[in-house]
Amino acid sequence: MAIRNPLRKTWFALILQPLLPPHPALSCKEREKEVYFIGEGEKVKFWSFFHLPSPTGEGCRRRGEGTDSKLLKPDFHMKSQARQNSRSSLPALQTEKLSLYYGKKAAFREIAMPIEAGKITAIVGPSGCGKSSFLSCLNRLTDLIPGTKISGSIRLDGLEIANEKIDAIALRRRVGTIFQKPNPFPFSIWKNLAFPLQEHGIKNRDRLDRLIETALQDVGLWNEVKDRLNTSALSLSGGQKQRLCIARALVLQPEVLLFDEPCSALDPISSGVVEDLIASLRGRYTVVIVTHNLAQARRIGDYAALFWVQEEVGRLIEYGTIEQIFTAPQDALTAAYVNGIRG
Ligand SMILES: Nc1ncnc2c1ncn2[C@@H]1O[C@H](COP(=O)(O)OP(=O)(O)OP(=O)(O)O)[C@@H](O)[C@H]1O
Ligand SMILES: [Mg+2]
Repeated sequence: MAIRNPLRKTWFALILQPLLPPHPALSCKEREKEVYFIGEGEKVKFWSFFHLPSPTGEGCRRRGEGTDSKLLKPDFHMKSQARQNSRSSLPALQTEKLSLYYGKKAAFREIAMPIEAGKITAIVGPSGCGKSSFLSCLNRLTDLIPGTKISGSIRLDGLEIANEKIDAIALRRRVGTIFQKPNPFPFSIWKNLAFPLQEHGIKNRDRLDRLIETALQDVGLWNEVKDRLNTSALSLSGGQKQRLCIARALVLQPEVLLFDEPCSALDPISSGVVEDLIASLRGRYTVVIVTHNLAQARRIGDYAALFWVQEEVGRLIEYGTIEQIFTAPQDALTAAYVNGIRG
């Protein structure tokens, strides 16, 4: 169903608007334009439109479009790469000389950082130092912002993904994002989880039910919602919505999960529940979390990275184990930041 009527376009945009990855620098109008540009340019159908802002970045997927077998392993129930990598102790992701430009302006430059498999890496640093931009590069969500350019290298399990030619949709199934503001689809709880599975070809009702129950169990939501799976996901509390969004990412069995300030829009109790949930993913998934909460980074992180703006460009100041960063920082800036003297 191509969307031709401008009034309907506006209506769809209004629905989609809150679901898009939030970015302060991307105005509503730009987001709207972006949706239509992608929608019309790529002849995306309505459901694919809806899929655009999903946490795994399923945007622009045309119905019937195949996945890139070079990037996406065909077996949906493949063993978690994180677990395999944990055994081989290779980083799940490795960036080298990674830079990102919005137009001519660099958001960050020359970042070389490993992201260890099965571990939790916390990225901290003051506002505007490129934390979210860095996360967005890791599953190429930056492709959705016109005028962005990546240079350098990002290897996912040895595969170069900074390369223009990779299938970004397949990549985003392996590397999912959870945003600051919970963004469930305006569907039932069941449909929120069934939808990405159905888009990936799983139609059998029993199998869908099983996978959905497992994902809801994984995020500790099953007992809270099992009697109302057909009610709107929008009726859930903020913390429950965020756990549903995490379940929606988990249901596709990704290898890496990127959390961009996942607790900052939640009340303290929900924040604690989501934090515990993220900590419980250790070992089964590779996790990167951006947080402004240093205590949280210290509680749940295995590794930490401090980003900072220097000469108007984001830089990686220091990377190390959580213990080293907090108790024996090598850089004076890190020491000042973790001790609350700067930032
Ligand atoms: N879509 C965009 N277009 C132009 N510039 C952008 C865009 N997104 C981010 N920037 C710029 O890139 C730099 C890094 O922004 P980013 O959002 O990655 O920082 P951050 O560390 O996540 O900040 P915060 O802690 O406030 O979320 C900033 O100077 C920002 O203004
Ligand atoms: Mg940010």
